[in-house]
Amino acid sequence: MNFSSSPIKSSDLDSNKIPKHIAIIMDGNGRWAKRRLLNRINGHEKGAETVKTIVRVCQEIGIAYLTLFAFSTENWQRPKNEVMALMALLKKFVIAEQKNLIDKGIRLNGIGELGKLPEDVYEALMETITRTKSNCGLQINLALSYGGRDEIVHMVRRIAEKVHSGAMSPESITMEVVTDHLYTQGIPDPDLLIRTSGEIRISNFLLWQIAYSEICVTETLWPDFGENEFLAIIKNFQGRERRFGKV
Ligand code: FPP
Repeated sequence: MNFSSSPIKSSDLDSNKIPKHIAIIMDGNGRWAKRRLLNRINGHEKGAETVKTIVRVCQEIGIAYLTLFAFSTENWQRPKNEVMALMALLKKFVIAEQKNLIDKGIRLNGIGELGKLPEDVYEALMETITRTKSNCGLQINLALSYGGRDEIVHMVRRIAEKVHSGAMSPESITMEVVTDHLYTQGIPDPDLLIRTSGEIRISNFLLWQIAYSEICVTETLWPDFGENEFLAIIKNFQGRERRFGKV
C-alpha cells in the first residue's frame, strides 16, 4: 500500500486527533541504494535526510513523541564497514542537529543498550541528550542497539533484583510496574506504528508497547518517504476507530 496519492497539507488534519506518539521502522535504505546502483551507505545517508524531514513535520504538527528504529541489536551482525558507516552517520547527525534541536525546543532521548555504542558515538549522543534534556517540545527517542526482547530481559532482571533484595513482592508486579522498568519508562505507548518498504513485520521493535498501536505499512522506501505521505498516514490514522479490545 502507498498512502500519498493526492497532495495533503497539515491543515487537512484534525487537530484534536493528532497522535501523541508515532513510532517508525525506517526500512529500505539498502534497496533504495541498490536500485540506483549506489552502495548501501548512500542509502543510509539519504535516509538520514528523511529523518530530518519527519522530525520537522512532527514538530510542526505537534507530535509529542517520535520513536525511530535507527539500529537494532541484530544490526551489529551487518558487515563491519556498514556498521561503522551507520555509527559515523549517527554521530554526525547528533552533532550537526544539536543546534537545530535546541532552537526548536526538541528533546533527544536514546533507548536501547546505549553502552554498546562506540565510545565516541556514545559521548556525542549523550552530549546532545544532556543539552536538550530540559526542552519541552517534541521528544525524539532514537532506538539504538535496541531489541524488544532484549528490553524485556533487561526489565525482568531489574524487577527480579528488586524482588530478590526484598524491595518488591512478586504480587506487587503489575502491568504498570513492567511498563516502568522498560527503556521507554515515562513515555506513553505509540498510537501509530509506521513501517516503510512494504515488509509486514514488527522486527523486534517495541514488543510490549505496541499492544494497541495502529499499524501502517507503506511500500515506499525510507529514503523516498516524505512529508506528504507522512501526513496522509496520519490522516488515515485519524479515520480509524480505536476500540482497545472493547466494543
Ligand atoms: C533499514 O534499512 C535501516 C537501518 C538499519 C538504519 C536506519 C538508519 C537511518 C535511517 C539513517 C541514520 C539514522 C539517523 C537517526 C541519523 P535497510 O538497510 O535494512 O534496508 P534494506 O532492507 O533495503 O536492505
